[in-house]
Parts: sequence; structure tokens; C-alpha cells
Amino acid sequence: MDYFPFLSAAAAVGVAGLALRLLLNYFTPGLASIPGPVLARFSDLWRFLDACFGQHHNTITRLHRKYGPVVRIGPNVVSVSDPAAIDAVLGLKTNLDKSDSVKPMMNPYNGEVLPMLISAMDSEAHARIKRPIGSIYSMTTSLDFEHIIDDNINQLLTGLRPYVASNKACKIDDWMAYFAFDFILQATFSRRWGFMEAGGDIDGMLAMLDLQFLYIATIGAMPWLDNLLLKNPLLLMLVKTPNTLVDFASDQVRSRLSGKNSHAGKQPDYLARFIAAREAHPEHVSDLQLTTYATTNVLAASDTTSATLTTIIYHILKHPGVHEKVRTEIEAAGMSSPAPYAEVSKLPYLNAVILEVMRVFPTTGIELERKVGPGGLILPSGQSLPAGSVVGLNAWAVHRDQAVFGDDPDQFRPERWLQQVGESDASFERRYKGMQRANLAFGAGPRACLGKNLAILQVYKVIATMLQVFDMELVDAEKPMKTWSTISVKILNVEIRLREI
Ligand code: HEM
Repeated sequence: MDYFPFLSAAAAVGVAGLALRLLLNYFTPGLASIPGPVLARFSDLWRFLDACFGQHHNTITRLHRKYGPVVRIGPNVVSVSDPAAIDAVLGLKTNLDKSDSVKPMMNPYNGEVLPMLISAMDSEAHARIKRPIGSIYSMTTSLDFEHIIDDNINQLLTGLRPYVASNKACKIDDWMAYFAFDFILQATFSRRWGFMEAGGDIDGMLAMLDLQFLYIATIGAMPWLDNLLLKNPLLLMLVKTPNTLVDFASDQVRSRLSGKNSHAGKQPDYLARFIAAREAHPEHVSDLQLTTYATTNVLAASDTTSATLTTIIYHILKHPGVHEKVRTEIEAAGMSSPAPYAEVSKLPYLNAVILEVMRVFPTTGIELERKVGPGGLILPSGQSLPAGSVVGLNAWAVHRDQAVFGDDPDQFRPERWLQQVGESDASFERRYKGMQRANLAFGAGPRACLGKNLAILQVYKVIATMLQVFDMELVDAEKPMKTWSTISVKILNVEIRLREI
């Protein structure tokens, strides 16, 4: 029998169906008139490929410069760079659900999906998960962890001193990752993993997390692929929990609950605080939820913090004038080492430097996406978005708004966060508050970073102590910055030389 006519008819129907789908995508009602790259109108493949190249943070900045504050970046996805839209998109009043892009973030565990805060799509479910533990992340509670940060800073200094003695180049991006992971694992489980002691990855944990972050950033553009890959039922039959960290977290929870690894009488770590939250809210916090809180704590805290620390060091060393000023301020403060947060938080120039790095080089390079609810959404610019469409804000684009940040938004200029000569107190306050309102480094609204206080504590203390103890310089100040964006935007291969002061 000749199958050719049937096969060619089937192929023709397939091609026609695909063409129709692409055409319908192009003309998605309500979004057709919004400018953007032509290919992005047909399929999310454009966004997926862009994410694969690891430069999405630069792409989105360029697109907003070309097309304006509202850009269509997918058949059903719009990116907005207008800071005035932050409240409407991310705020509590509209309380929009997260988009499907968070699905690849959901970790499978023994046939279930971990109910993680950061990947809870439904706003009400998110509020239920967050309520029992919200207060654990206040500044007061975060300060209880300062001594653990100090222990880890001391370990970092010990790990870095051999580079001083040998005058060998040090890859500071690696060391910031060792620090951030060691600290958060100790703060969460009172267990040291020991990346800093080893001076390298252990059990492939860092490599596995890098891969997971790359997966989230790329598959997030075409979330249905997740069902074929990580959530593929066949794969899940073979590997119940394809994530070492989740396995480790669930072991820790189990052994703590069974009394085998009791923490009684010791200063509570995060796990002890999550268990206390369960006692206060037994109806909301299951064993699975405990594992999830602990896993999220490590996943959300590690890469973001290490990328931020590296970025700050890089920018300071790249700008000798800034380096000199911030070092003089730190020296004059005469702080003990590791630098205490109570003192370091009072240094205005250091504060301006950190804010400016996180503005010009925010470590979250993907859009903070939300799904427009049934009534549609009208942006402050008057643009209306239809129900079911996806709207995102990307810090890289928002932080370059000239009306808020001045006419040199690409420049690294910490002074913009300080009162200018001749600027009245009232107008400085207005300008400063405006910049803070547009600051998306930690997100905004009910889904903003829960660990912001802990992150700030680490960042201020580590940077101040490193500047106090070491005279640092880039090995090659002319070498172009090599960036790579997954969930966090990183500067890679930052080689520095260290001398003890
Ligand atoms: C400099 C370091 C950090 C940066 C830049 C950062 C940034 C962010 C951003 C942009 C979000 C997402 C907002 C959204 O999806 O709309 C987020 C969420 C979150 N972060 Fe951080 N983060 C940092 C450190 C930390 C640390 C140290 C912790 C934990 C101790 C943490 C815990 C979380 C959690 C739990 C969420 C989810 C919040 C929720 O959905 O309610 N982060 N972070």
C-alpha cells in the first residue's frame, strides 16, 4: 500500500495547523498593537533562545530603549519599564497571580511538587504559605544570625589568605559562592557543607544548582517544556527527587523531627524556627512544607547573594575613585573585624555604592512576571492589557528610567544616592524616595524578597570587611566584563589579587 498520499496529507495538515497557530499568536487580541521584535509575536521560541544565550538582561534593556516603555516580548507576554507601573503589576492592591514561568522552579519530591513560596502561582495560596514564617525574616530576627555571618566571614578570610601569601590570582566569584552557600546552609540547618574549607565545589552541589538556575531561566520562557523534561512522569518514576539539595533538606527535617538531631537548648537556626512556626500553625505547615521552607531558604538565598557580592566587588575595583573613597570611609570608621552591622550600616558612601551597584547591575535578570486577572489591567500610561496576558517588569529596564534616575542611567555613579551640592533637604528626600520606590533589586509588593534583611546584613558586612582587611585589585582591569544570566545575572571569572592591609 502506498502511504505517501496519507503522509503528505498529514504533513500538510500539520504545517497548516502550525501556520494558523503562529498567525493567531501574532494577532493575540489586545496585544497586537504593542511594539516589539517581530519574531516574538509568533512564538515564545524567540524568548527561549534569547534566554539560552544568557544575555537576556542586555536584550531587554536594548528592547525598551528601541520600542519604549511597553514591549511585546512573546505572543502573550509584555514587558514594562515604567516605574509608575510597579504598583499596578506587583502591588498588593491588584495582587496578581504569578505566571506559568515559575513552573520549572517547582521541585518534584517523591511524586509531589514542593509548595515553594517563590513558585506559588496563586496569590492566596502564597499568602497561606507565607503567613506562618513571615516574621522569621524581620531585621531583628535576621540580626540573630550575625554571629554565623561572622563565623563565615572569618572562614572566608582564612580561605583567601593563601592567595595573599602566594600572590596568586583569586577567582572571587567562586569564593563568594562558597561563602553564600556555606553561610545559608549553616544558618538553615546548623550544618557546615565546607565549600570554603575545601576551596571548591563538593559533591557537585554548586554545579547542580547552576544547572537548575539555567533550567528555570530558559524553560521559564516555554513552561510547557517542563512537563516533557523535569516533570516528565517517566523520569519521575525513575528518579523520585532529582535534586540533591531537596534530598538533603528532607533528611535534615526528618532527623530533626525524630529527635535524632535535636537542636534543643541551642540558638534556633532557620529549621528550628520553621518547626516552631508549624507548632503555631499546624493547620498550614505539614512535614512537606517544612522541607519546602528549608529548600527555598537555600535556593533563594545562595546564588542571588553570591552574584551580588561579586558584582559589588567588581564595580568597586573597576572604579579607582570609588574604591579610594569607600576605603577611606571604612578606615575612618575604625570598626572591628568582621565589621559589625550596627556600624557598617551607618556609612553613607558604602550605602550609596551598594545601592548603585544593585541599580546598574541588578542580579535578577529575568522579568518579575504576573498574570493579568479577569478584569484586565490598565497601566498608568493608559495602555490596557487583556485578561490572561502576562506582564513583567525587569529591573534592568526599570532601573534605567531617566525621569527617576537622571539622564545618565547607564553610568555607575554612587553619588546619585547622595545629597548634591545645592540640593535642598526636601528635594533630595523626594528624589531619594523616588529612586527607592523604583528599586526592583529585591522585587516589590507581596512577593518581594523575604530574605532582603538577611541579604543586606551579609552584603554590607562582607564588603566592608573585605575592604578593611585586603587591598584588592583586578588582575586585568581592561578585560571586558563577562556576564551570564540565568536566574541571577553574574559576572564571571572575576580574577583579583589580594594584599593584606
Ligand atoms: C542580594 C541577595 C538577594 C536578591 C538580589 C534577592 C532578590 C529576590 C527577588 C527579586 C525575589 C523575587 C520577587 C518576585 O518573584 O517577584 C526574591 C524572592 C525571594 N527571596 Fe530573595 N534575594 C536575595 C537574597 C535572599 C536571601 C538571603 C533569602 C533568604 C534567606 C531570600 C529569600 C527569598 C524568598 C523566600 C523569596 C520568595 C518570596 C515570596 O515569594 O514570598 N532572598 N528575592
